Amino acid sequence: MTRLAGKRIIVTAGPTLEAIDPVRFLSNRSSGKQGYLIAEALAQRGADVCLVSGPVCLPCPFGVTRIEVESARDMLAAVEAELPADVFIAVAAVADWRPAQARARKAEKSALETSLHLVENPDILRTIATRQAGRPDLVIGFAAETHDVAGRARAKRLRKGCDWIIANDVSGDVMGGDENAAWLISDHEEIAWSRTQKAEIAARLAGRIEAALCAL
Ligand code: C5P
Repeated sequence: MTRLAGKRIIVTAGPTLEAIDPVRFLSNRSSGKQGYLIAEALAQRGADVCLVSGPVCLPCPFGVTRIEVESARDMLAAVEAELPADVFIAVAAVADWRPAQARARKAEKSALETSLHLVENPDILRTIATRQAGRPDLVIGFAAETHDVAGRARAKRLRKGCDWIIANDVSGDVMGGDENAAWLISDHEEIAWSRTQKAEIAARLAGRIEAALCAL
């Protein structure tokens, strides 16, 4: 299977970690599993895959180039440095906010209680999807939702400016687990993938990407 040979694909995966001080941080429960499996499935099909990963406990998939980052700002810089690409897939659970200032020294608890100011992180998916020059041909986002999954994902696809959005229902044990149920939503179709292994979701998505790139 080498139908993606010559295609360059950037995938973000895992959580981001936003430093409060040298010992504390803000982050989330993303395991990175789904993003890593997608990177692996694409590499198996011959793509040149760059995986920009937040901190996770997973080995780099065979045939994939991994760039390890911590914060959302580092993740965005790494993605931009790796462009141009044919496809960009934002699987990472990017922290929505970061402390306005990471402190150089461990902060007193009392100081944090009264003065932990948060600022919004850059939206990596939206930044890449709305680029004027050098936008990848296919930009894919993820939407992890606990309710009105498809409806919220449809709105998110438009808001982010991406071509496809993969909607997940994360109301159960999806985060950190090995299974996932998803919808692939584009401007002209919606495909439901009932609960199955994350590796199977990755394989189906890779197959769809292959078909889309061949049709371009
Ligand atoms: O807005 P929300 O976090 O629900 O959007 C999820 C999608 O946007 C995912 O594809 C995620 O990787 C991406 N995202 C991003 N940068 C952010 C927030 C989300 O790339 N700061």
